[in-house]
Amino acid sequence: MTKNFELDATTGKATKSPEDFFNKVYRMPFTLWGDVRIPDELVELVERNDPTNVLEFGCGLGRFSRYMAKQGLNTTGVDFSSVAIDKAKKRAAKSKSKANFIEGNVTDLKMIKEQFDVSFDIGCFHCLTKSEQEKYVAEVYRLLKFGGTHLIWALDSTPSHLTLNEEYIAKLFSNGFQLKEAKSSRRRLVKSHWYWLIRTEDDLETLLNDIYN
Ligand SMILES: C[S@@+](CC[C@H](N)C(=O)[O-])C[C@H]1O[C@@H](n2cnc3c(N)ncnc32)[C@H](O)[C@@H]1O
Repeated sequence: MTKNFELDATTGKATKSPEDFFNKVYRMPFTLWGDVRIPDELVELVERNDPTNVLEFGCGLGRFSRYMAKQGLNTTGVDFSSVAIDKAKKRAAKSKSKANFIEGNVTDLKMIKEQFDVSFDIGCFHCLTKSEQEKYVAEVYRLLKFGGTHLIWALDSTPSHLTLNEEYIAKLFSNGFQLKEAKSSRRRLVKSHWYWLIRTEDDLETLLNDIYN
């Protein structure tokens, strides 16, 4: 993982893991990325696809998953921060939300067996290193139904010094997905993009062979 995630946000001391970093951040009363407004892109994801179930990658405190559940969708949010998932579950219970939250790493979600009509990720993908991104792609492939849309919002410059853009995403997702649209964004005032990826019918074995061989 990146060096950026190896420092405690409050003490500046080294932490053990990326999960540790995010756990410390989520113990604080608020986070830097705590923008609770629902992006139009998320509203449109529901309107255009009419899904029955949805999976959120890197759900944090679960605000967006709770929104999806409120729209009547069977919603699962996953995040590797146990502190975030604990808070997400408590917030869901308090607001009587049916959103379901699971602690797990987006690079290995084998505990999730069902497939989803749509999935989305607001701010998690850009936390990953290149090798983690490749495992993430395989998980999105496995968990998204054929024809389903995966929506990503990601920073153009990542903490591990990768530059994300249309070309990069199209190449990374070239097996099993079509990049339908990329739109530049100033969400949270930072240079970033929305990416709409459609799951195509490519052979899973080819994808896994490309990644692991
Ligand atoms: C910038 S925050 C965004 C959280 C939430 N989507 C939001 O917008 O409020 C990134 C989130 O991704 C999670 N995350 C980062 N890497 C992850 C990984 N490999 N597996 C699961 N969650 C991860 C972090 O714990 C954090 O909650």
